[in-house]
Amino acid sequence: METMKRTVTCGALRRGDVGRTVILNGWIHRKREHGGIVFINLRDRYGVTQVVVDQESPQSLTELAAGLRMEYCVAVEGAVRERPASMVNPDMPTGEVEVSARNIAVLSASETLPFMIDEVNKDGSPVVPNEDLRLQYRYLDLRTGRMQHHTALRHRVALAVRTFLDKQGFFEIETPTFIKSTPEGARDYLVPSRLYPGKFYALPQSPQLYKQLLMVSGFDKYFQIARCYRDEDARGDRQPEFTQIDLEMSFVGREDVLALTEGMMAHVFKETLGVTLPAQFPRLTYEDAIDRYGTDKPDLRFALELRDGSALAETGTFAAFKDAVTAGGAVKALVVPGAAEAYSRKKIEDLEGTARVYKAKGLPWVKVAGTGAAPVLEGGVSKFFPDAGAVCSALGAKPGDLILFVSDSSKKTACAALGAVRSRLGKDLGLADPAAFAFVWIIDFPLFQWNEDEARWEAAHHLFSMPQEHCLSTLESDPGSVKGDLYDLVLNGYELASGSIRIHDPALQKRVFSVVGITGEEAEAKFGFLTRAFKYGAPPHGGIAPGLDRLVMLMAGETSIKEVIPFPKNTFAVSPMDDCPSEVDRKQLEELHLAVRG
Ligand code: AMO
Repeated sequence: METMKRTVTCGALRRGDVGRTVILNGWIHRKREHGGIVFINLRDRYGVTQVVVDQESPQSLTELAAGLRMEYCVAVEGAVRERPASMVNPDMPTGEVEVSARNIAVLSASETLPFMIDEVNKDGSPVVPNEDLRLQYRYLDLRTGRMQHHTALRHRVALAVRTFLDKQGFFEIETPTFIKSTPEGARDYLVPSRLYPGKFYALPQSPQLYKQLLMVSGFDKYFQIARCYRDEDARGDRQPEFTQIDLEMSFVGREDVLALTEGMMAHVFKETLGVTLPAQFPRLTYEDAIDRYGTDKPDLRFALELRDGSALAETGTFAAFKDAVTAGGAVKALVVPGAAEAYSRKKIEDLEGTARVYKAKGLPWVKVAGTGAAPVLEGGVSKFFPDAGAVCSALGAKPGDLILFVSDSSKKTACAALGAVRSRLGKDLGLADPAAFAFVWIIDFPLFQWNEDEARWEAAHHLFSMPQEHCLSTLESDPGSVKGDLYDLVLNGYELASGSIRIHDPALQKRVFSVVGITGEEAEAKFGFLTRAFKYGAPPHGGIAPGLDRLVMLMAGETSIKEVIPFPKNTFAVSPMDDCPSEVDRKQLEELHLAVRG
């Protein structure tokens, strides 16, 4: 190998290198033979270089080249020369030159591949093998241009985060990944203890409690690119094992955390994508977000706001609207500009399916025809609304528009269902610019939410978030109205980050525990180590944790975090490559004092 060790990478050579003798190491990306000449595209992670075995080459070299197969790992020694003008490839950074091979060594052969690397269809679109095959041979999938790009981007994002936070005076501090189980929210992954029968470590769902303890220790600016584990069903933006950019600061209020996060995002986007973000991100209160977009994760790359149509209960004679308003609910409306013609009854029924998933009882609609001065309502529930002008001016609709409604005795349900229709329309009509990044802060979240199944209040975010000061007096008497010092950062319709100002007063922490039904002894057993620490001069503090996987996914223009995690699990929380999770030996179980039932 020493003699064939690379002197340049496959992405390096340019016209100025003509005449040099070089050694390249890489993989056979493509090979073609043409009139006795063998052309090889040699690939490594830096790029692709064309290698040519000429007709005049010794027969042994030509034979060796002819026998090379896809993804063989080889070393090539040769002279850099200019490509003939007709062969210059302007799409390749190395496209002006080629290496005329003098010597080729096979470093490692490859079996027939389960799928081609970077195969494209006739129209140039990539051929994507099925997901389990990709995950089974992930090491090959990672050789593709797409995965090489995303892996490089992920590295650069993490590096930019570290550089930025270091400059701001943050310390990167590791917290344990064997911790005490204190589940709230998702299920914990447990690790049985060999030394203590019946006892378990838990893998952290986040470093939350430890970062708060670090504040007590005086490390007033902490961050960690932290692996987190949650035993919940996988989705496009959720994996059982994922990574947070976790950070915490002392002596700060909400504005400090928001400004720091905006600065960090601006730095990361500039450094890695060359994109300039606005100095400040827009803000919406939780209530406004629900009211205007039907979700606390609105995609603000497109407008299409929900309107309040409750007044229409009076204008028309539609019983469902009247019933909803009388019951204290609402009528929400979505005016889809210019969509009247394109949306057939069947297409609207399809949208209704989406609304019903979110518990809507239906999706009444009308189309606006006529003229601006004399609009006419057609189809759907139009017969209940004789005064078309009143409807149009109440909702800001004009001829050619489609109006969709959801009415419900619960305003929340009406908003959520129509919000889901809004998101669906955004996708169906291609309303969002795929190259845009629309950040928005959602603030003033409720601190508690009612858990119907368990008939109790639970923390909307986590138990350690500070109630807003003006809500302290009604903490116990009216938990539903209490707002927290909580904030989420949303990007293109995804929750990118969550954070809050924390409680640092043990007495207030106890009050919050008791609202969610965690009383004295239980609180002491589960969280005593934290509340005890708060008794020793705990500083006011707060923080946030953007998900690294979601951030890189959105920056890469992907819709699944699996595309930016080198070795993810599939939708069933399985790794088809190494067949994990797997059974273990009886002896291992015995040592852990465990038996598998059934
Ligand atoms: P939270 O639970 O909201 O907050 O998580 C913060 C961010 O982590 C990402 N995230 C995930 N990414 C991929 N797969 C998952 N299963 C997953 N779960 C969460 C999201 C999310 O916004 N300790 C608090 C943060 C704080 O208050 O400082 C926490 O963990 O991007």
